Amino acid sequence: MNFKETLDERISQAEGVLKKYLPEEEGFSQKVREAMNYSVTAGGKRLRPVLMRESFLLFGGEGELVEPFMAALEMIHNYSLVHDDLPAMDNDEYRRGLRTTWKVYGEGMAVLAGDGLLNLAYETAFRALDEAQDTAALQRAASALKVLGHKAGIYGMIGGQCADLEAESKAHVTEEELLFIHENKTAALIQAAMMIGAILAGAGKQAVDAMERAAYLIGIAFQIQDDILDVTSSPEVLGKPVGSDERNHKLTYVTLHGIEDSEKEVKRMSTEAIGILKSFAQRNEFLEELVLALISREK
Ligand code: IPE
Ligand code: IPE
Ligand code: MG
Ligand code: MG
Ligand code: MG
Repeated sequence: MNFKETLDERISQAEGVLKKYLPEEEGFSQKVREAMNYSVTAGGKRLRPVLMRESFLLFGGEGELVEPFMAALEMIHNYSLVHDDLPAMDNDEYRRGLRTTWKVYGEGMAVLAGDGLLNLAYETAFRALDEAQDTAALQRAASALKVLGHKAGIYGMIGGQCADLEAESKAHVTEEELLFIHENKTAALIQAAMMIGAILAGAGKQAVDAMERAAYLIGIAFQIQDDILDVTSSPEVLGKPVGSDERNHKLTYVTLHGIEDSEKEVKRMSTEAIGILKSFAQRNEFLEELVLALISREK
């Protein structure tokens, strides 16, 4: 299989896992369940669960312990997008080529759908505790849960979204603040993906730390590329509005350094990350190729 075929196969595998844990659309809470499913099944690259499984495979992981975590992380990512698109945040009307959740279901229901996905994420991740075959697996699942909670919350994604929101109304934002925003709003969930994959496979602390660093680089490069595409792409290709950052007075790497230097930075950071991935005793060439492919992604 070539890279593209393998990637498509891994994406549909991740979608299959995710769908197993989505709610039935029934009962008096049917509306919020519909809104949750609408958000999650709208498409998307499924990058985080794919990175998680590939990191698991890199360290020789076997079995299904990783699956509830893959679904959980993608739910958290999707909840972050549902809330990010709200009028109170980025006020965006399109995502993945479809109307955003709040445009279809209303703002109140979109708030609840995000909350619902966040809670379902942990409920799903906790299911790994039932699947653990022995004490060692239980311990790994417990460590993975801690990473998930840490990187998704105020010490990670929410912390970054907080600084991102505040930066909108500041006349001046420093390079340090911008890096904090990227590291937390975006890199933190990528770190969760790659660290959890490694932890569940039984990787040692040194290897998990190295994965955290690689994912930091991949995550920052990923957000710089997102900001580049917000300027250079089209809504048809991107599936979400372009110019959203300018409209919201966001300071981005692109506004600070321009497109050309931003592209160089994406390349530099991704290359450094690939160097880390190549440094372990075992290799996962597909994972390396995936990080390389992200440098030139168009959506
Ligand atoms: C969008 O993430 C939000 C950012 C962190 C830039 P993705 O670009 O991974 O979104 P989907 O899941 O593929 O739609
Ligand atoms: C969002 O960053 C990161 C999240 C945690 C949701 P953006 O606001 O740039 O993401 P998009 O461009 O709306 O996907
Ligand atoms: Mg945003
Ligand atoms: Mg946004
Ligand atoms: Mg963006």
